[in-house]
Amino acid sequence: MSSVSKTLAPPASLPQDARALIARVDLGRLVQNLHAMEKVSKGLGLLAVVKADAYGHGAVQVARALEAEGVAGYCVATLSEALELRHEGISSPILVFGSIRPESLPMAAVHGIDLTVVSEGHLLELSELVPQHPVGLHLKLDTGMGRSGLRISELGGCIDTIRRLQPWLRGVMGHFAAAEEPDTRFTQVQRSRFLGGLAQLRDAGITVSQVHHANSAGCLRGFTEGDTHVRCGISLYGLSDLDEARQAGLRPILELSAEVFRSVLIPAGTTVGYGCTYVAPHPVRLVTLNCGYADGFSRALANRAWAGFRGATYPVVGQVSMDSLTVVVPESVNIRMGESMVLLSREPKDPHSVASTARLLGTIPYEITCALNRRVARDHA
Ligand SMILES: Cc1ncc(COP(=O)(O)O)c(C=O)c1O
Repeated sequence: MSSVSKTLAPPASLPQDARALIARVDLGRLVQNLHAMEKVSKGLGLLAVVKADAYGHGAVQVARALEAEGVAGYCVATLSEALELRHEGISSPILVFGSIRPESLPMAAVHGIDLTVVSEGHLLELSELVPQHPVGLHLKLDTGMGRSGLRISELGGCIDTIRRLQPWLRGVMGHFAAAEEPDTRFTQVQRSRFLGGLAQLRDAGITVSQVHHANSAGCLRGFTEGDTHVRCGISLYGLSDLDEARQAGLRPILELSAEVFRSVLIPAGTTVGYGCTYVAPHPVRLVTLNCGYADGFSRALANRAWAGFRGATYPVVGQVSMDSLTVVVPESVNIRMGESMVLLSREPKDPHSVASTARLLGTIPYEITCALNRRVARDHA
């Protein structure tokens, strides 16, 4: 073995279809979703949220497709996500939401990456460092999300420090906690706290060119008055389940399909998978697919999920294994090795859509696509 590894050069890149588990991402639909959100926001600048590899859709390809349409910028969670985009030639503004360590500031400055001010301590730290390592700053106000930003009650005590940072201050932002809820009272409370915070800053002579509070739900519901920008993620991927999203014409852009590597007829009484949790009640065709929980397809979907084939859906049976899962189809359905079944469909009403799968798991669509990891090939068309 060692002589083989010495003589064979590693492949430049691994074959994409090595396991034939593919997330197909429709970039045309992505752009349609972008234009729909631009219409909804009535022309506000749109910051595309592409953190977590664009919620599993492929950050670089998504960012490139959106850059060609002139988005105002991108938002990511970490400095390394921002650097990946810069490395791939993305030149529009990039804002990092998360807190970054002081020693990373020079790197952010060199690559022109903007930072979110996430706490009073962070503000003090930045006020020492930013004059030597200039970066654009977005001051986050904690209007009720309760996880990051300056609390409105802290703002008065921070005014002098913020004023010193004025040359680098690009934006003031907040984040809604419940903008998708039918009851909009808390969102209105957050909004009035935000406007109060902005007024305090303005009264102190602090000005910014960008003001943004709304995520997709806030934007779809119109909580944007007076803002200059919106930060949209889930709506671009067509996975917001709000009525307003449907009315705006947003549509899912990702489909996950897995290749069949075995298709056999099994008699009644055959057990399937770890723990023998499925026993064929009558003769069926058992199909094994190249997808498992190590790809991000949750084990909790065992005996619950659905797979699509030529317009029909069939149940996933038995445990989801690390690298494979099994589906039963009627004996009459002639599905062969090398054909594919759809595990996540782009049709929201399907039992195997991202939305339906999220409901089965008691989670949100975000978690379903974010879970698809780098073992899943991406095909952007
Ligand atoms: C600070 C912030 N703004 C905006 C967004 C985008 O939210 P959505 O995907 O619901 O549009 C997120 C996503 O988690 C976020 O953390």
